Amino acid sequence: MCGIVGYIGTKRSYPILMKGLHRLEYRGYDSAGCALISDEDNNLHVYKAKGKVSDLEATANEKDTTGTLGIAHTRWATHGIPSEVNAHPHISESGNITLVHNGIIENYVTLREQLKKRGFTFHSETDTEVLVQLIEYTQNKLGCGLGNAVRNALRLVVGAYAIAVIDKRHPDQLVAARKSSPLAVGVVEDNSEFFLASDASPIVEYTNQIVYLKDEEVAIIQRNHPLKVYNLKGTEADTEVKEVDLDLSMLDHEGYPHFMLKEIFDQPNVLKDCMRGRVVESPYSHAPQVILSAVTNNRRQLLRARRIVIVSCGTSWHAGLIGKQLIEHFCRIPVEVAYASEFRYSEPVIEHDDVIIPISQSGETADTLAAIQLAKQQGALVYGIVNGVGSSIARESDTGTYIHVGPEIGVASTKAFTGQVTVLTMLALALGMIKGTVEQDEYEATIRELQLIPTKIEKILLQNDKIKNLASIFTYAKNFLYLGRGYNYPVALEGALKLKEISYIHAEGYPAAEMKHGPIALIDEEMPVVFLTNHHRRYQKVISNLQEVISRHGRILAIIEEGDEQVKNMVTDFIEVPSTLSCLAPLLSVIPLQLLSYHIAVARGLNVDQPRNLAKSVTVE
Ligand code: M6R
Repeated sequence: MCGIVGYIGTKRSYPILMKGLHRLEYRGYDSAGCALISDEDNNLHVYKAKGKVSDLEATANEKDTTGTLGIAHTRWATHGIPSEVNAHPHISESGNITLVHNGIIENYVTLREQLKKRGFTFHSETDTEVLVQLIEYTQNKLGCGLGNAVRNALRLVVGAYAIAVIDKRHPDQLVAARKSSPLAVGVVEDNSEFFLASDASPIVEYTNQIVYLKDEEVAIIQRNHPLKVYNLKGTEADTEVKEVDLDLSMLDHEGYPHFMLKEIFDQPNVLKDCMRGRVVESPYSHAPQVILSAVTNNRRQLLRARRIVIVSCGTSWHAGLIGKQLIEHFCRIPVEVAYASEFRYSEPVIEHDDVIIPISQSGETADTLAAIQLAKQQGALVYGIVNGVGSSIARESDTGTYIHVGPEIGVASTKAFTGQVTVLTMLALALGMIKGTVEQDEYEATIRELQLIPTKIEKILLQNDKIKNLASIFTYAKNFLYLGRGYNYPVALEGALKLKEISYIHAEGYPAAEMKHGPIALIDEEMPVVFLTNHHRRYQKVISNLQEVISRHGRILAIIEEGDEQVKNMVTDFIEVPSTLSCLAPLLSVIPLQLLSYHIAVARGLNVDQPRNLAKSVTVE
């Protein structure tokens, strides 16, 4: 959580910092702040505001925002309520040093008590304030420069951090460090300017040359000097400059009222990107095939896998539940799907011939990252399915497949989900083929159908207006039930999560047949029930479940397969999706559910892209 930005160079830093913060607002948006060293009086100016980055801009408006060195922060509160005093940057006792932080300092209480005894005063409820005071204390004690003070102070710290620190007495220097929270440094060839950010999105329009700091590395960034990176012991580390290509149009909602709607509509195109170069025609037989380099390169280890464990959170966990069905069907390997947060503390039995698949949009989710670190220690192969290129989970994985759906900015995950399911489908097919557990006919038919999915999604998106009208019927419902079976059961969970997180309506997803074991008691004319009846091998059984709800006067919205006259005759409200294979059904049935929750949230006047209490990337436990 929290986004940090820094700039040192030849340009005015303030506009660069604000633009960067807007790009990082998906990481948190309950308060924001910046610190600038002014050209006018060479002094440190710190501005903060409760609320969004736009509130900070309103606060800083007409104040001194000059200067070519600055740091900024957008917060998602962990320690201390969202307020101006708890907003970053935090300032040291003397007022010389200021710092922004993403992460959690676990031993902050002990450190704070020790620093208090040494005369330091604390003003906020945050864990972060202890860092800036500790750096000042270390600097005074060792009589060293800022870089060494940061490095030595961090040796006393337990927890996660990505920090940017400046000292008003050294306006040519910016110091940054990270452990378990991401931090990227953008460099230009002549070292005249440097950009710092929690991810590449605030940097790419200035430079595509990016250094991702590693755990426990401290970067000393000095105007007109090459970037220097040290480990906490003070040994200089090698830096690897990566060329990052990000499509800037993906960072804009391009005429759509919200990122979420844009990202829903992006799906046909980004799923083609996701399959590009991976779903190909065989040059010999012209038969379709899936080629994933990670599968080819790790063939031996994947073939000997006796078990696969998928670890993930939220929407990515729902994708994992679909992945389980796909892999078990095509590869006949048992798959477990674990919440990363439970897995890491459950004393999991991990064998060296297990394959662990972390699934993560951001690639920064703390629980998922910790789960794979645990798995790696036990010698399992970690195969990451990640969107965030160069993210922590991507880097920690032994191998993997990027979903390549472009940056997802809306807090509610949409295109990342369909991208994850697409990669899981390709993985199951590729692995099934080398294992010999899938028949050639089924393999080819599934790939051919997968290639048609983007066009079929386009067809569903044409029903946007109809779905908007349906949403208006359900806008003021207090509860919702989502029911599906087989491949559509995780879609029911995902539909319920989408509604909860952006509409604040209580919703539950259930396997349709489980309804009669409890939730059926909730059914009355006030209870909307979203039924996923499409593409199911046990279609007639789902119809029986539907009948059970109708008999109890439940208010049904059915997601049906095009032309399903039987269900059309049973219900008033339905959305048709094109026919496909059962295993690919989630890629279609989730689309109307994404649109439904979007339109309900908009009708309720809610902030769809930045729902309350949430952040896009959960980098704390
Ligand atoms: O970045 P990740 O995929 O690891 O994030 C996992 C969850 O935090 C995420 O899916 C969350 O549930 C979304 N807000 C769902 O829309």
